[in-house]
Amino acid sequence: MNETHPSIPVYLVTGGAGFIGANFVLRMRQSNQAKIINLDKLTYAGNPQTLASLGDDPDHQLVRGDIGNSELVAHLLDKYQPDAIVNFAAESHVDRSILNPGEFIQTNVVGTLNLLQTTRAYWERLTGDKKERFRFLHVSTDEVYGSLSPTDPAFREDTPYAPNSPYAASKASSDHLVRAYFHTYGMPVLTTNCSNNYGPYQFPEKLIPLIILNALQGKPLPVYGDGQNVRDWLYVTDHCDAIALVLNKGKLGETYNIGGINEKTNITVVQTICEILDKLSPKEGLDRKSLITYVTDRLGHDRRYAIDCNKIDRELGWKPKESFETGLEQTVKWYLANPEWVEAVQSGAYQTWINQNYGDR
Ligand code: NAD
Ligand code: TYD
Repeated sequence: MNETHPSIPVYLVTGGAGFIGANFVLRMRQSNQAKIINLDKLTYAGNPQTLASLGDDPDHQLVRGDIGNSELVAHLLDKYQPDAIVNFAAESHVDRSILNPGEFIQTNVVGTLNLLQTTRAYWERLTGDKKERFRFLHVSTDEVYGSLSPTDPAFREDTPYAPNSPYAASKASSDHLVRAYFHTYGMPVLTTNCSNNYGPYQFPEKLIPLIILNALQGKPLPVYGDGQNVRDWLYVTDHCDAIALVLNKGKLGETYNIGGINEKTNITVVQTICEILDKLSPKEGLDRKSLITYVTDRLGHDRRYAIDCNKIDRELGWKPKESFETGLEQTVKWYLANPEWVEAVQSGAYQTWINQNYGDR
């Protein structure tokens, strides 16, 4: 670590080679807001290439490892003495959790528990100002609140948890553990529950990048069920800014809902991507909407998510900056401009997933 900016805090970021974590790390380093130790297991979803623009930045250190490895985490805490931990590390894809729930329990529940326990031992040894300022921020999802009907009010921080997928259940469980470490041990924790993110560097198993890349490659655009499921979409850098704000100004033990105030049906999202691509990258004789293919629905598919983010606006002054129209166009442009990144993630392992998830649909 570079010692030239002693006033900049050190963050241990977990899962910082994944989609949101990497966007957060890049933002923190570009603005020099924090030095980063980046602990990532580098699963299929973790990609060091996403961090390539950092070059040999001495204030960013990528360490390959598991949040559940207490010995490694204890060693990193001892060596780098971080001022905060931001926990992004997770298995994050609902469809994968339906096919293989065990991994979700292992990382999202057991891994988070081990991380909390190791952090607690570190935090209890801190003294004075350093102890006072220390924070553990847990990044979670709106999916813990379950599913809404079209007329239900949006999720608030006091909406009861009702997770429906193995992914949501594992995240709910980790949120409860984080809460328990505040109430039982007084650990300085914060939790954020965010809606669906999109933007650069998202792995193409999730709806938006999958549709962009299939549409570019002239492949079918799989829409689950009737396409009327609703998600609340947030541009990833807006999420990253909200996390930084909660880290610096959030009230200990509290949770903050983060959302895009931007509810769309899946079919609208898919059709909008087709329109943007037909404009930015037209293909002679191809109307990309003709590629839309309705496929068998996801098991237990949540109908609607919507976030009420009044609390973070009122208490911390955060609002999303990007609109869906500008954010989506920027995202499409990013995928068009970065074919090497796309090629690298669409490896053999990715093809196996595509065959497994879409083969029988
Ligand atoms: P992602 O799947 O793109 O990245 C997850 C990262 O965690 C990967 O780099 C992976 O290698 C790493 N990881 C997995 N298991 C690990 C382990 N045991 N130890 C260390 N690293 C491990 O996920 P994402 O979309 O960037 O999501 C990040 C966090 O934000 C997750 O906790 C997710 O639940 C939450 N979240 C995501 C969204 C979304 O729309 N993507 C919305 C709300 C909340
Ligand atoms: P996804 O990006 O997997 O996020 P989440 O399940 O966490 O909300 O899916 C977003 C929505 O898009 C969800 O309602 C499922 C749907 N979907 C499809 O219709 N087709 C697809 O190929 C995928 C991956 C998702």
